Amino acid sequence: MIIVKELRKSFKGQEVLNGVNLSVGDGEKLMLMGRNGAGKTTLIRCILGEYMPSSGSVSIDGVSPWQDRVSALKSVSFVPQLPPPLKFTIGELIDYSAGISGFDKKTVAENCRRLELDIEPHMGKAFHKLSGGMKQKVLISVAFARGTKTIIFDEPTANLDIKGRGTFRALLDEAGGGRTFIFISHRLEEFSGLASRAVELDMGRVVKDEEI
Ligand SMILES: Nc1ncnc2c1ncn2[C@@H]1O[C@H](COP(=O)(O)OP(=O)(O)OP(=O)(O)O)[C@@H](O)[C@H]1O
Ligand SMILES: [Mg+2]
Repeated sequence: MIIVKELRKSFKGQEVLNGVNLSVGDGEKLMLMGRNGAGKTTLIRCILGEYMPSSGSVSIDGVSPWQDRVSALKSVSFVPQLPPPLKFTIGELIDYSAGISGFDKKTVAENCRRLELDIEPHMGKAFHKLSGGMKQKVLISVAFARGTKTIIFDEPTANLDIKGRGTFRALLDEAGGGRTFIFISHRLEEFSGLASRAVELDMGRVVKDEEI
């Protein structure tokens, strides 16, 4: 379970999160919405322990991501909105992730294949040299291969082609079950039939939290 309490975050005096309260139970499928600049990515980066909040708390199954990031994130995967400019090759990235998470590397190639990306010819290429959609497909494939209890997706389909979007939805439906998914998205219809709750952020606070 993820519990966010009275979370505040400012960047050089600009208050982006202004007392966010949110609990996400195990197995929930939640959409996080809100206009550009509302603070969605900032909230997720605080949950992941990447940003230190000005005040408030986050706990993931009782563990604070700032106090013990490794344990807090063991059960959490994240697909970012803007993929990091990694200099690793694809092969190194997959080896590294498989090493720390203990999954079968073939699962990543299989997930990529289903997303219509034949990753084999690109294994020696630096991650940052892939196209935007290819990066997103690799990160989605690694997240599903890890098989963690929770996956957080920050606008996961923004760069995907139409077929890729369809397969992504199929992968989500297959993996769904008891897993917790948080999707940041601007389109309610994108996760219809899967997401059961929509939360909207505005002016740094939760302004809507409803069943869908
Ligand atoms: N590292 C940072 N340094 C300074 N300001 C930041 C930083 N990260 C985010 N912000 C600011 O916080 C505000 C919210 O940004 P955020 O990325 O959380 O929005 P968002 O809701 O994810 O928007 P979008 O829908 O466009 O992705 C913006 O004004 C942004 O400039
Ligand atoms: Mg964002």
